[in-house]
Amino acid sequence: MTTPLTKRAAWQSLQTHFPQVRELTLRQLFADDAQRGARLTLDAVGIYYDYSKHRVTDETLKLLVQLAEESGLADRIAAMFRGDKINSTEKRAVLHVALRAPRGASIVVDGQNVIPAVHAVLDRMADFAKRVRSGQWRGHTGRPIRNIVNIGIGGSDLGPVMAYEALRSYSQRELTFRFVSNVDGTDFAEAVIDLDPAETLFIVASKTFTTLETMTNAETARTWLLAKLTDPAAVARHFVAVSTNTNLVQKFGIDPANMFEFWDWVGGRYSMTSAIGLSTMLAIGPDHYREMLDGFHQMDEHFRTAPLNRNLPVLMALLGLWYTSFFKAETLAVLPYEQYLKRFPAYLQQLTMESNGKTVTLEGTEVDYQTGAVYWGEPGTNGQHSFYQLIHQGTKLIPCDFIAFVQPLHDLGRHHDLLLANVFAQAEALAFGKTSQEVASEGVPAELVRHKTFTGNRPSSVLLLDKLTPATLGKLIALYEHAVFTQGIIWGIDSFDQWGVELGKKLAERIIPELEAKTEPTLGHDSSTNTLIRRYRQLKHSSAGK
Ligand code: F6P
Repeated sequence: MTTPLTKRAAWQSLQTHFPQVRELTLRQLFADDAQRGARLTLDAVGIYYDYSKHRVTDETLKLLVQLAEESGLADRIAAMFRGDKINSTEKRAVLHVALRAPRGASIVVDGQNVIPAVHAVLDRMADFAKRVRSGQWRGHTGRPIRNIVNIGIGGSDLGPVMAYEALRSYSQRELTFRFVSNVDGTDFAEAVIDLDPAETLFIVASKTFTTLETMTNAETARTWLLAKLTDPAAVARHFVAVSTNTNLVQKFGIDPANMFEFWDWVGGRYSMTSAIGLSTMLAIGPDHYREMLDGFHQMDEHFRTAPLNRNLPVLMALLGLWYTSFFKAETLAVLPYEQYLKRFPAYLQQLTMESNGKTVTLEGTEVDYQTGAVYWGEPGTNGQHSFYQLIHQGTKLIPCDFIAFVQPLHDLGRHHDLLLANVFAQAEALAFGKTSQEVASEGVPAELVRHKTFTGNRPSSVLLLDKLTPATLGKLIALYEHAVFTQGIIWGIDSFDQWGVELGKKLAERIIPELEAKTEPTLGHDSSTNTLIRRYRQLKHSSAGK
């Protein structure tokens, strides 16, 4: 039995240390150490990480690293990379790192080296992608594929859609990509509204091949296709599957020859470098895709080998944990100053919140500390004209991750300097604010001084990378993946299960037939749910008659 988190020596020291740090200001910390802005930085794997504007001292950082050590982080990292079944509630290995390991590597799960199978699938994906991209793969009527529609949800959608948007400037522009996830029929209808079935390829992406939303959308896609192409044999030229479940793929009518496999040791939200990345590979091509995998792998290796106090994901995790568990900050904003990363915060929401939104430890006891923060964000500078007001002057403490790139992907006049000036300015304003004296000395009328005062002391990190490329995207994602892992280890929770999504799914299964029943069903829910169901049925039937 491991020592409970709050009983560990480093945790207790942090608790004593916290009230002192809470009183310190970033103004003072910077004034006391002229080197702070250069010193509290880490330049690794092509990411320059400035963590100087955090409410920490050298002592805080030392204690946080000590906490990671006392939590057995080094052993747990080794266990993950070794293929141990660290997802204990599902009794599975956690091996997304194997998906980007080089061909010659060896990681053994249940007595078998999984790397050859990983590369066999990658090779099949590359072969298929080349055929589709070159127009060699034809649809049922002999026309080349021009549209690719990925049908999936959660990890089978958020990674693909984020990567497509992020790497759009590397994509084959003649191909149209759409992503359908929601069971709301609007999602499918709008995605295909201007597409010709004869030129459309569907990727049905689902780890389990049982997910209600995905299977419903896949059935609708088949009906849509056959409404025009009529011959059921057309399905074989217009549908491919990405899954771990060969039986169900076959049952759906997709030829296993058109199935790209992955394995139960890949979690849904960690699956974008598995065959779930097929749409990404179709968009950017196999070479760029391999560059992306290499970026992931570089970060994996950094995480595996760098000392904990110079380890990017570990530092990011520890700072996040400091705010969540000690300052009791509820949220963390991710603010990419790169328009192509517009879906990155949405992607991170599943990665972070499905992983660390837990209240029970691996030992089965209730936690007595705060775990996973709420992640959210929007690209800068748009957010500045929307919600930044609350980050600057609101009552809540919201640590921010600013992400910026030195080289623009579109070098248009002054745009990029203006963009970067804004990132640096926001981080500066949040940290140092503006005192009432400073405001007053500018001649601001007395009644407005308080309104124009910025308390500052609002922490942020700045991540500066050279350019958004497939490789830098890979590094960035792996950075967050491993930060999530690190926090999960310290909090002592299983970051790789997601039992919390089950109850809603089960209840929906019960309600579906109640909504669809021809005659009034007997309802046994609470009075609110019963009334809502009755009202919906009543209104649905009365509007159907109009
Ligand atoms: O509902 C949660 C979840 O299980 C996610 O973890 C997963 O990414 C998503 O559903 C989709 O699952 P699948 O890929 O099996 O369709």
